[in-house]
Amino acid sequence: MGKTLLSLLSAAMIIMTSGCCNTNSQNNVQMNADFLELAAGRYSVRHFSDKPVEQAVIDKILEAGKLAPTAVNSQPQMIYLLQSKEAMEIANRLSPCIYGAPQAFLMCYDDNRVCKRDDGNYGDIDCSIVLTHMMLEAYNLGIGTCLVGRFNPEEAVSELGLPENIHPILLMPFGYAADDAVPSPRHSEYRAMEEMFEVR
Ligand SMILES: Cc1cc2nc3c(=O)[nH]c(=O)nc-3n(C[C@H](O)[C@H](O)[C@H](O)COP(=O)(O)O)c2cc1C
Repeated sequence: MGKTLLSLLSAAMIIMTSGCCNTNSQNNVQMNADFLELAAGRYSVRHFSDKPVEQAVIDKILEAGKLAPTAVNSQPQMIYLLQSKEAMEIANRLSPCIYGAPQAFLMCYDDNRVCKRDDGNYGDIDCSIVLTHMMLEAYNLGIGTCLVGRFNPEEAVSELGLPENIHPILLMPFGYAADDAVPSPRHSEYRAMEEMFEVR
């Protein structure tokens, strides 16, 4: 059975089981017991099939991004869907990390909307959170992704002719994983919990 079919089946299982939410009786927060399964199953896909992702699926991925929290709810994200031949040629010129994906999101923030702070703004944090929502919903729908920081934002602005108030933060190639796509060995290397967590 191909990896794509396997990942679609596992995504379908997650969707089927994610209907069973528990309710935390203390604060009435809905808890989905399968979120950790979803988070552990996602990995950076670095070999994509050339089959484009359907618009209905892309719409759901974008919706997940819309629901993300941002500083003072400023929603400064500006998301470009790169998918034309010309746009994907630019994406591949910008970064060696597009991995044959037929489509990619370029996640930016809008300087006219972003929440400022003394030493800058929250744009890169907001964009990272929005993109994480999108990445996890993509995986939930059987779509592979890879977050890519390896590109020059100024080159992206000039190659794509973006307005000067738009600041690119991350690229995210996405698509159906190729049959031979596998997680990198680093995917399952985790630091010990006690190294990264303490109670004070
Ligand atoms: C901010 C950020 C930038 C990243 N940039 C790249 C990149 O330029 N190229 C790439 O192949 N992967 C990139 N990654 C993916 C990480 O290498 C990957 O998430 C990490 O090794 C863990 O593997 P996993 O995603 O398979 O769990 C980036 C991830 C993050 C969070």
